[in-house]
Amino acid sequence: MDQAESIQSSPLTSAQAVELFKQYVIGNYIRFPVCLVRGEGSVVWDAEGNRYLDFFPGWGCDLLGHCPPRIVEAVRDQVGELIHVPNTWYTSPQGLLAKALSERSGFDGKCFFCNSGTEANEAAIKLARLNGKPGRYKIISMLNSFHGRTMGAVTATGQPKYHQGIEPLLAGFSYASFGDLDGAARLVSDETCAILVEPIQGEGGINLPGPGYLEGLRELCDQHKLLLIFDEVQAGMGRTGRWFAYQHWNVLPDIMALSKALAGGIACGAIVARAEVAEKLRPGIHAATFGGNPIACRAALAAIQTIEEDRLLDRAQHIGAFCQERIERLQARCPLLREVRIKGAMIGLELSVDGMPMVERCLERRLLINCTHGNVLRLLPALTISDQELEEGCGILEEVLGSYKN
Ligand SMILES: Cc1ncc(COP(=O)(O)O)c(C=O)c1O
Repeated sequence: MDQAESIQSSPLTSAQAVELFKQYVIGNYIRFPVCLVRGEGSVVWDAEGNRYLDFFPGWGCDLLGHCPPRIVEAVRDQVGELIHVPNTWYTSPQGLLAKALSERSGFDGKCFFCNSGTEANEAAIKLARLNGKPGRYKIISMLNSFHGRTMGAVTATGQPKYHQGIEPLLAGFSYASFGDLDGAARLVSDETCAILVEPIQGEGGINLPGPGYLEGLRELCDQHKLLLIFDEVQAGMGRTGRWFAYQHWNVLPDIMALSKALAGGIACGAIVARAEVAEKLRPGIHAATFGGNPIACRAALAAIQTIEEDRLLDRAQHIGAFCQERIERLQARCPLLREVRIKGAMIGLELSVDGMPMVERCLERRLLINCTHGNVLRLLPALTISDQELEEGCGILEEVLGSYKN
């Protein structure tokens, strides 16, 4: 057996994988000691053949479930035709995807493509500064927000715990409380160029905007000629029952950042920016080598088509209503469930206790969920999840939360 073959074809047990990672992979993640080998829909299997029901597939990237057939087919087809060419050439998938996103976002936007959420926000930050010239470079973002880990996006992230040890941060950011319009207004100066906000905060605990909040930010931006940037990385692409979360309210952004679910689980990021704003991104100012590659764009087109053909925006609303009903019933007899926040398939259960033990107990019962912000259980189920699977997962959650003793 030659060496290349042996490198590729050695399936590991979970214990072997843990050992290998200990030795060779940087330990910047808290991982569960499970090596996943296969996924289909809302189910994944580990190396030992155990089945897990996944209520948090791909950290929100696998909106269509694991290995959605039409994405698999599109990617297989594309890798056999053209894997990668740089942005010195035109390709059909990138052009068609830009058109599809522009048409669905409703503000005649133009796209720039990259590979992740943090990169999309970096592009948005640069574009805002370019539009602010001369003299305006400051950006207001929100406390409890999350925009990514590169230096611009992490500076925009209004959570000091993510800033510790990596200072100095990028200049020019200040933070308002999410929901506080007056607070945001107080931060505006004649050096401000933009306001950056997640229409629904994800990592910060699934926080929904109050009535009039996003519209109020729009007015504030119009009044002071600021750009309004929506980070739709987690809430976008159909997760909440509309293509983009802002479409639940009467508001449009100047720039929107996308990633996660954009390409059915394949790495892809993008910004969509109003044409007039987008003009400032001229050749040489910004780029991404892999951005807009044919595989990611074909996958994204297949994802959009799947959502439309299978009416998955309606399905997101159904998932939200289903979980609301089940969880509210549980809330009535489970005092540690403090608040339930749901928009489509974006679900946060705020507890009065630390959420990590619940995640571990769910894992023991082979249900995968997430805890964010210390005490918020976060569920981002796939839109393709069946009612039976929803029933199964909600049953486990009820059991775990209902039987919890401090
Ligand atoms: C709203 C939001 N923006 C940006 C990011 C960063 O995305 P990525 O991890 O792809 O860089 C995330 C990731 O969770 C997110 O939820």
